Amino acid sequence: EPGTAKRVIDRLTRRVADFPEPGIQFKDLTPVLADPDGLRAVVDGLLHDVPSIDVVAGIDARGFLIGGAVALRRDVGVLAIRKAGKLPPPVHTREYQLEYGAASLELPADGLDIAGKRVLVVDDVLATGGTVLAAVGLLRECGAQVVAVSTIMEIADIPGRRTVQAELGPDVPLLSLTEG
Ligand code: PRP
Ligand code: MG
Repeated sequence: EPGTAKRVIDRLTRRVADFPEPGIQFKDLTPVLADPDGLRAVVDGLLHDVPSIDVVAGIDARGFLIGGAVALRRDVGVLAIRKAGKLPPPVHTREYQLEYGAASLELPADGLDIAGKRVLVVDDVLATGGTVLAAVGLLRECGAQVVAVSTIMEIADIPGRRTVQAELGPDVPLLSLTEG
């Protein structure tokens, strides 16, 4: 099953040279998710070997696309982890580093009872891991239990996996369906 996902992702990914900077090859997953076989393979792949969960958390913005689909497949709800400034107060906030500057992710600090809930975090791409780490930190701050993190693609030459896996601990799988 993860093998099926890898094949369809690798076939349909749009690779763009020199974007956003010279020497960088951008991997655009838009055609993968726009394809019915692609979307199905991604959703099934992201759930492969994931233990029982109460809710799926998708990270703003591209993680939203897969979060809802994955949640529906497991018959659980979906939780949007938002970029800063979108949610009314009170909120929990986690800052993370970008190549230039910083950004923040947020969750409602009120009216969202996820304490003790088993959460699967999904996002499209794992690069430095800063985004996923901020999301995991936020969920834990809310008392939730992150049981797995699933991504479609990890960027092989960026050391995100080690940092994220160290933070997650040995019992929480960090899955990716292909390398880019
Ligand atoms: C991209 C991608 C991941 C993140 C990975 O999101 O969708 O969320 O970068 O990078 P990292 O592992 O180095 O943190 P981006 O912030 O570009 O925004 P978007 O999802 O709203 O397009
Ligand atoms: Mg993103």
